[in-house]
Amino acid sequence: MTRLVELEATGPRTLDPSDIDDEKGDVAVCQCGLSDSFPFCDGSHRRTEDEDDGETFVYEDGERAVVDRVVTEREAEDENGGERED
Ligand code: FES
Repeated sequence: MTRLVELEATGPRTLDPSDIDDEKGDVAVCQCGLSDSFPFCDGSHRRTEDEDDGETFVYEDGERAVVDRVVTEREAEDENGGERED
């Protein structure tokens, strides 16, 4: 599976001791990109558990959709023998 994630942050978040979960004693950093508390995990990754390999997903407004594979300009040029399509 592949997931498209749109982020708006322009700088890092510095972790400090107040970020440690009092109950669990750790800091869970989100790796799925879906957390509403990014960069911290809020459990939103559970929504990805039934994603199928070979599919690309977009999550928007609480809904999930399957989209066609995204092709970058570089990939398109490589597939087109280095020529740019206009
Ligand atoms: S890893 Fe992203 S919400 Fe848990």
